[in-house]
Parts: sequence; structure tokens; C-alpha cells
Amino acid sequence: MTTGALRDRFPGARNDWARFDGPAGTQMVDTAIAATAEFAASGDNANSHGEFAAAHACDALIDDARRVVADLYGATADGIWFGANMTTMTFAFTRALARDWRAGDRVVGTRLDHDANVSTWAQAAADAGAEHVLAPIDVATGRLDADAVIECIDERTRWVAIAGASNLLGTMPHVRAVADAAHAVGANVFVDAVALAPHRRIDVAALGADALVSSAYKWYGPHAAAMWVRPDLLEQIRPYKVRPAPEVGPSRFETGTPNYEAIAGVRAAARFLLDLGLDRVRAIEEATFAPLLDGLGAIRGVRRWGPDSLVDRTPTVSFTIDGFAPDAVAAALAADRIAVWSGTSYAVELGASLGVGATGGLVRAGVSLSTSPDDVARLLRSVERVAASA
Ligand SMILES: Cc1ncc(COP(=O)(O)O)c(C=O)c1O
Repeated sequence: MTTGALRDRFPGARNDWARFDGPAGTQMVDTAIAATAEFAASGDNANSHGEFAAAHACDALIDDARRVVADLYGATADGIWFGANMTTMTFAFTRALARDWRAGDRVVGTRLDHDANVSTWAQAAADAGAEHVLAPIDVATGRLDADAVIECIDERTRWVAIAGASNLLGTMPHVRAVADAAHAVGANVFVDAVALAPHRRIDVAALGADALVSSAYKWYGPHAAAMWVRPDLLEQIRPYKVRPAPEVGPSRFETGTPNYEAIAGVRAAARFLLDLGLDRVRAIEEATFAPLLDGLGAIRGVRRWGPDSLVDRTPTVSFTIDGFAPDAVAAALAADRIAVWSGTSYAVELGASLGVGATGGLVRAGVSLSTSPDDVARLLRSVERVAASA
């Protein structure tokens, strides 16, 4: 199946826009749209833990969605919990962890990460009087070396929070090496897989993750997210919760009534990726992405940031055009009905490390399953035209 054939699966992509904004949010796949609407229309719209059929259906939906998302994460269903988005869930998670942190404890993060995996931990650590340190990136390559993180890990370290992939540059750190070092001192590892999950097969054991989160709207589902926490660990954490809510299992973390219709869509989106196969996803995306990466590199006046190869990176590239602010480039492309993001896309520390935090950031173009080779050709033509007008 080619990207062109797949594009029909995304009703939101049936227009003349070339969409490179997948790293910020993808178009929902047809089955996820249908599942969301079907749940709303089914009469199963109720609440959990009741004695009648619709309430049972809500329980069954959540249980089954946990199983399907667990398959997507290479994880177990008894560790999966659902929430509004990664940021909200990570704030709740870190607040719960911090109840058991003490002054002198250390939390390690990285400058590659989206701020949702930085400020969440920093604020929880500050509340507990714990230390929060950030590993530097290699500015020349745009990569985060595992050793730079490992150097920050010591006997006092409780958690290491690391990205599975950069949302801005696409670079993928060697999480496993970091996890081995963390585990050697008894620390746990939290993986922000928001920018990884749409593009790679995930296996929490292979990564060495003790907790992992991603957002379904980045992988063709609705606006909701799912976190996996190692089940034995999950039972030890003390989330803020109301007294009647379950005392055991992942639903301890699911405060209030779940978004059942969205979770029906999350399950369908996860099934879509599982059925297609993440190795296929990668092959399809890289076939579209390689000409984009090469094409940008060949345009005079264009600077690509981060690595120029496909090795250990997702199909996301950031670039600048000499003489143009990133916002101006994005606006010029939008006039050609091409959607890209400009700025640092909440990768605050990375933007500052690259020295672009105060200069408008970068222009980011991400390939997703709804991006076609024709979209890439249009983007390259427009970028060439803008660059030539400097
Ligand atoms: C790598 C990464 N982490 C975290 C987030 C935050 O996700 P959410 O919007 O679901 O809170 C994003 C959003 O763009 C992201 O790209």
C-alpha cells in the first residue's frame, strides 16, 4: 500500500492542503472517527461500575481499550490508564510521585524533551525539595547522547524522564542504555513516547521503560492519551484521588468520568496501527520522507537542523531559510496551502540549546501516513521559491 492509497483513510486529508503538521496532531483515521460516533450513538453512553447493560458496556470498552493500547506499547493491560492528554497525565503522575520524594532526591531530565516532560518534573521536584537536573544535547548533531544523561544519574536519582524521540528534530536517543544505568542505581525511567509512538513499534521491556506515555491524536486517534506504568510500581504510587474511586489497578489514576467516546476512538486508532504494522508504517513514511530530507538539503539558502540521515530519527525535519523568520516561512507556505509549524514547538530547552529560542525557532515539517509524495514535491517547490526571493 502506498501513502497515496492510505490517504483515503483520512477524511480530514481529503482537500488540497499538504499537511506537514503531523507532529502537532494527525488527521483521524476513518475507523477511529466511526468508532467515536458509533459509541455516542450506541446507547452505551453511561458510566462505569453499574448494574445495567450500558454500564457494563462502558466497563468492557475501557478494559478492551486497555488491552489494545497495551499491544501498541508492547505492554500489559493492567498498567494502562487513559487521560485528557500527555501533559495533564504527566502533571498528575509526577505530583503523585513527588508525595514520596524527599530533599536530596534527584530527578533527571533532558534538554531534548518537550516541555511537558520537563516542567512537569521540575515543578513536582521543587514541591518536594528534590533536585531536577537536565542533561545537555550535542548541539552540533542535534542528538542526545546516552552518556550525557548517564552522567547525571547518581545514587540519589529516583526517576529519569526522557523522550523516545524529539518532537522538533526527530532524533531518537538510546533510551535503553539510559534505562540500564538508571536501573543500576534503583531509579525508574519515564519515556515520553508522544513523538515516537506514531512512527515506531514500541516495546516497553526492550526500551527499559517503567512508565511510558503517548497521545492518540498524534497517531490518528482523537484528543486523548494513554500511559502505561509497570503494574507493581503502579500499585505503590499514591495518586490524588477521591475515596470511592478504585484502590487498585490503573483506574486509580483516572480521576472522574472517562471520555468513553474518545477512548472508543483511541482503541480504533491503535487497532489501525497494529493492523498496518509499525514496520510498514516506518517503511511507508521513510519512502515519503527521504526525498523531503534530501530535497531540503539541496536548496540554496536552506539550513536543515539536526541529522541529515534517516538513522535513529523519525520522519520529522526542522529547517530555516536564510533571511526569513520561521513564522514568515510558515505563512508563505500556508499561502500555498501547505501546513508546517514554526517556533520551538514547546521544546523550550532544545530551542535554547540550539540558540534559536529568541529568534523565532525553526520551521518543522513532519511526514505522517496521510502525507503523499506530491505533498513533498509541493513543499520543496514552495521552499525553493521563498529561498530564491531572499
Ligand atoms: C514529544 C511531545 N511530548 C509531549 C507533548 C504534549 O502532548 P499533549 O498535547 O498530549 O499534552 C507533545 C505535544 O506536542 C510532544 O510532541
